[in-house]
Amino acid sequence: MNKDFDALCGGRENLIRLAHKYQTPLLVIDKQKAIENIDTIKNALSLCKISNTVAYASKAFLCGEMLNIVKENNLSLDAVSGGELFLADRFGIDPQKIYFHGNNKSVQELTEANDKGVTVIADNYEELELLEKIAKKPQKVMLRINTGIEANTHKYIATAFTDSKFGILHNSDDFKACMDLIDNSDKQTLTGISSHIGSQIVEAEPFIQNAEILTDIIKSLKRPLCLNIGGGYGIKYLKESDVDLFGLISKVAAAINEKTSDAVGCVKEVIIECGRSIIGDAGITLYTAGFKKTTPHRRYVFVDGGMSDNIRPALYNAKYHFENLSRNDTKTELFTIGGKLCESGDVLGEAFMPHNTEYGDIIACFCTGAYCYPLSSNYNLALKSAVVIWDGKKDYLALRRQTYNDLISLETRGDL
Ligand code: LLP
Repeated sequence: MNKDFDALCGGRENLIRLAHKYQTPLLVIDKQKAIENIDTIKNALSLCKISNTVAYASKAFLCGEMLNIVKENNLSLDAVSGGELFLADRFGIDPQKIYFHGNNKSVQELTEANDKGVTVIADNYEELELLEKIAKKPQKVMLRINTGIEANTHKYIATAFTDSKFGILHNSDDFKACMDLIDNSDKQTLTGISSHIGSQIVEAEPFIQNAEILTDIIKSLKRPLCLNIGGGYGIKYLKESDVDLFGLISKVAAAINEKTSDAVGCVKEVIIECGRSIIGDAGITLYTAGFKKTTPHRRYVFVDGGMSDNIRPALYNAKYHFENLSRNDTKTELFTIGGKLCESGDVLGEAFMPHNTEYGDIIACFCTGAYCYPLSSNYNLALKSAVVIWDGKKDYLALRRQTYNDLISLETRGDL
């Protein structure tokens, strides 16, 4: 196995054991790796002289066990739907530590947030108007700003271009209207300014520019506010890529120190919202190899999952690192890894793997901890994978595999 990845989830033998114990496709989460990532983020952000908070962006991957990691590591939470708020509530997350995002929150979602005391990150003017109408209790709000920083990433996961559906344009009349509404409200209090420029960004500059613009906005508002710099810190999906999480965040922390040095106290807290950089490289999906097929230009090996458990290659042209855990042979060949779903686009990637890769081999796809399970589907009525946690000593099931009975659980006919 590749050096970067070989220690994850207890290594090759352990992964093969887990594949046999829980069957495949299987998402294995290395809890220690997730904690290591959290520590890296905390250490880098704490170079900031201002009080600082790390929030976990639930959308990257959420279940009860993940919320336990959030609690054990004293993280705050970024939620983006009533469903995420519901799960957070069920697993005892303090509502005071939840930041509620979303560009089209429903009346029900806003009512619940208001009732629980969750901070709402308002995405547009009409949301503030609705909140004003329905809030029964005092409401903490932050404004999500579109700072116009266009980072280098896939266009589907960039969020701060001018015509983005997200955020209130920086320097716009809309922003002024939002401030007027809040300042004239006896229910809403502005607690911070927030911006998320996109995801899987690996250069520091756009993050720095974003933080600087937000700090300028806070300075112009002349009141102590939180500076929520969003998430989006990229991870190393391939062995040849080079990403320095500590370096990226520490540069942003230094820029915030510099930018606030002439206005001490204007920023009362810095908040970061990390999803992928916490859980992305902590996850490995295990598949079992099935049939092979050779075409004039390709040699396919098919696996027992595909776009139903990882749509990222089809949706974002995302690239992954694969290994055949069952074989050590150094004579390799380029394989195209095809899924089993009825779509030509259901191809997970390409990888050099042992030439004698065979039916029944266990194939690992690395760095699938973020945005794979949450984007998974029952297309073709494929069953959702199980999720297992490896804590360094033992394995335990976080989410069981779906069953055929789950597939009929929403049917209204009682006799099934
Ligand atoms: N904060 C906000 C407001 C966000 O919208 C997001 C992600 C995050 C934080 C966390 O970003 P992260 O640190 O995980 O990059 N499905 C896509 C990613 C969508 C990201 C949505 N927002 C993918 O698979 O790449």
